[in-house]
Amino acid sequence: MPCRTTKDSSMCSPLFRIIALSTLFSASLASASNGRALAAAHGIPYPAVIAHRGASHDAPESSAPAYLLARELGADYLELDLQRTRDGVLVVVHDDALSRTSNVAERFPEREKSPVSAFTLAELKSLDAGSWFNQAYPKRARPSFEKLPILTLDEVIDIAEGNPDRHPGLYIETKIPNQFPGIENDLKVRLEARGWLDRPGRVVLQTFDRNSLKLLHEAMPQVPKILLLWVGNKGIESASGQDFAQSGEQDKAAFYARQQPKDKAEFLRWLDLAKQEGAIGTGPSATRTHLGEQSYSDLIQPWMNQASHERGLLVHVYTLDERVDFDKAMKAGVDGVFTNRAGELLRAYQRPVESEAFLLKRLGY
Ligand code: G3P
Ligand code: CA
Repeated sequence: MPCRTTKDSSMCSPLFRIIALSTLFSASLASASNGRALAAAHGIPYPAVIAHRGASHDAPESSAPAYLLARELGADYLELDLQRTRDGVLVVVHDDALSRTSNVAERFPEREKSPVSAFTLAELKSLDAGSWFNQAYPKRARPSFEKLPILTLDEVIDIAEGNPDRHPGLYIETKIPNQFPGIENDLKVRLEARGWLDRPGRVVLQTFDRNSLKLLHEAMPQVPKILLLWVGNKGIESASGQDFAQSGEQDKAAFYARQQPKDKAEFLRWLDLAKQEGAIGTGPSATRTHLGEQSYSDLIQPWMNQASHERGLLVHVYTLDERVDFDKAMKAGVDGVFTNRAGELLRAYQRPVESEAFLLKRLGY
């Protein structure tokens, strides 16, 4: 309450301040305990450490060393983006095209910008999906990252199952699902075949696409699902009415940091949609303190998290990597964090963790 500007001086009294502060404090405690109880009801760890594309700060995203490292660090979930090859195999790739994270331009120059669905599994397996990381991040480069292959869903499952002392779950996003009709059912078939639908909370499904959420819910009603939230095109309507692509701006993170939902009702409408369509929680974006590539609009304000909890929805925020942001998010009442730095998040939660360099060496990288 900004007492310098209020017209009602009773609101500035010490007693009022104490009441207001204690109300705020108990609301945030109640919100946290709601989150913990909600997570437990779905078999989901609290607070959840979700290794975004694996331990992708320290190894090429969505690669074997990224997922192996996340598993060894002790992440609760290996996060992955699901797509499908031309010959029908489920694979793990984030972008619509392959040019950022592989040598597709060299290997298939005429198909550099083609979607993942235009390639067979054999073609994808012939790409080098590791060397780009060494060039992009020379300080974290390792010769063993060269020529790493793109992974199938089954190979990530093998990694998740590969250490009897570590049992990470899978946090699976249907990516651009309108390009892959039937992918929700394909996913169910693979998870069932691998025995991964046996334990509540072992798999969490996530999507930005409400139709895919509905199809996931029809295919796997018992599996927890998260609707990813976003301000902008096909997402929450923004107050500015602007779209980044049309804004003419250069700095994406600065643009998104200024975007907010049109009003409170618009944000609450999306929570209600998530719930109606079968989600047990939401995955809101966040603005990072130091902005950067994965910084978006702030959708984890305390009132937003509290409104989610009041509706029985969990909140797993994407994608934070720094202690300052982990602390802010937890204080605001989130129940889990997508992070490229699972080790740092585990350390922030005071969970035991070995060093990334040590583990990568032990894993043979
Ligand atoms: O899945 C949550 C988060 O991963 C969403 O962003 O673009 O990294 O898949 P993105
Ligand atoms: Ca994702």
